[in-house]
Amino acid sequence: MQKQLILGIETSCDETAAAIISNGKDIIAHKVYTQLEDHSPYGGVVPEIAARAHVEKISPVVQSCFEEANISPDDISAIAATCGPGLIGGVMVGMVYAKSLAATLNKPFIAVNHLAAHVLTPRLTTDIEFPYLCLLVSGGHTQFLLVKSAEEMETLGQTRDDALGECFDKSAKMMGLPYPGGPEIEQLAAKCHSPENAMKKYGLPRPLMGTKGCDFSFSGLKTAMRQHIESFPEGPVPEHEAAELAHAFQVTIADTLLDRCRNALQMAKTVMGEDIQRLAIVGGVAANRFLAECFQDFADGNHLNLYIPPAVLCTDNGAMIAWAGQEKLALGLVDELDFKARPRWPLGKQADNR
Ligand code: KG4
Ligand code: ZN
Repeated sequence: MQKQLILGIETSCDETAAAIISNGKDIIAHKVYTQLEDHSPYGGVVPEIAARAHVEKISPVVQSCFEEANISPDDISAIAATCGPGLIGGVMVGMVYAKSLAATLNKPFIAVNHLAAHVLTPRLTTDIEFPYLCLLVSGGHTQFLLVKSAEEMETLGQTRDDALGECFDKSAKMMGLPYPGGPEIEQLAAKCHSPENAMKKYGLPRPLMGTKGCDFSFSGLKTAMRQHIESFPEGPVPEHEAAELAHAFQVTIADTLLDRCRNALQMAKTVMGEDIQRLAIVGGVAANRFLAECFQDFADGNHLNLYIPPAVLCTDNGAMIAWAGQEKLALGLVDELDFKARPRWPLGKQADNR
């Protein structure tokens, strides 16, 4: 039998990424060009700079995937690309590149929703089956989804203001740490030698905790972080102080996420009419080991199987796009070359997923 090879292209934010997966779960090429240096002078992603960098890098990144996999473009079975949501300039670059390749090679084109790709990634790396509860925590999104199939996802709750990754990034920036702030805060917090002291010293709010539903709110946490940082004396902050604050920040986030997760599990049970046994955490923030450990303890105590992709597949990458393409292809779904890029493309009941 001929191998099925799917090329996935991702350009919705600040990573120019491509990957090739073979016969389902085998990643035979994986390239990510991170535009960190292009954006670092600005402390965040600048859409115009991102789009230009994608234009420059997309072809070399895709070509190096063919080299790594040792195949010719003609061997590819289908081409999947992120068509939204995201920074529209970047999305256009990857989408148009993928469409031209599909037209030239006469191969099917598959339009992938970036959020659906994050949500489906655990199925690339593990044997998780539908249905599952999924916590999507990235730079732009924070939501609980009940994932019933590759095409049917129901949003149970979401952030009312900042995304969690954004809260990490902005808090890190206030602490003088480089972008992206998530890994920086995680590393700093790991240096905290007096966790109890940290929790006593740095009180932080847990908005919506204890309330109904599974919505989030992180803007108050960001403001409280600013107040703590402003209360530090002039001059460089001693590392042990910063590490204690970073620890308190992460514990506060873990408490909030777990509180919301308990409600989300109940809500999912009501929808499905049975206990949910599988919980997945996806998106860039899912790369955080501290949060993963807190969730593992929770899962162990609640008869849940926890699925978190490896860190390189939590942050934006081409393999998740190829896999989401594969899931669509398996359902017989391919797209026309006039598919329009979508800066907004929500998942869930009300979403127009086709
Ligand atoms: O999924 P992603 O790569 O891009 C979006 O689709 O947004 O997520 C990027 C976000 C950034 O906010 C980054 O700070 C955060 O994920 N992140 C982390 C960690 N690694 C990346 N946050 C906390 N801890 C980490 N280890
Ligand atoms: Zn993402």
